[in-house]
Amino acid sequence: MKILVLHGPNLNLLGTREPEIYGPLTLGDIDTKLLELGKEFGAELKCFQSNHEGALIDALQDAQMWADGVLFNPGGYTHTSIALRDAISAIAIPVIEIHLSNVYAREEFRHVSMISAVCKGKIVGFGWRSYALGLRALIDLLTDEAAGK
Ligand code: DQA
Repeated sequence: MKILVLHGPNLNLLGTREPEIYGPLTLGDIDTKLLELGKEFGAELKCFQSNHEGALIDALQDAQMWADGVLFNPGGYTHTSIALRDAISAIAIPVIEIHLSNVYAREEFRHVSMISAVCKGKIVGFGWRSYALGLRALIDLLTDEAAGK
């Protein structure tokens, strides 16, 4: 099983970026934890971060060629990007929307997601654990699908 972990803009600054909201871990720390978890579950992960919308779209399109599913935190593009929504709709593999913070407890503009309706599901508010929970859910889902359940 192969999974893309895709991080959007400003997530490269985790560790120093508003740690009271996003926690103390760096993106490298989070990716390391996810790679370890993936190994435990027998899944191969590739992690990629970009601050550029087009690069994220390229990564989603490319994932269709090699990955079984995607964990995606689109950062601020969550609330604005129809192009990312279209890319998710265009690919046939499941995408899980991930947010470190509880976006519903924050500013109103963060309550709107352009991508939720075209994602398989969404996990918010658990810090780095949102990714871990998403990984587990995605692996369960793909395992059941492969078994025809
Ligand atoms: C975020 C929430 C977004 O509103 C914000 O723009 C981010 C991070 C999160 O993981 O909580 O960059 O996606």
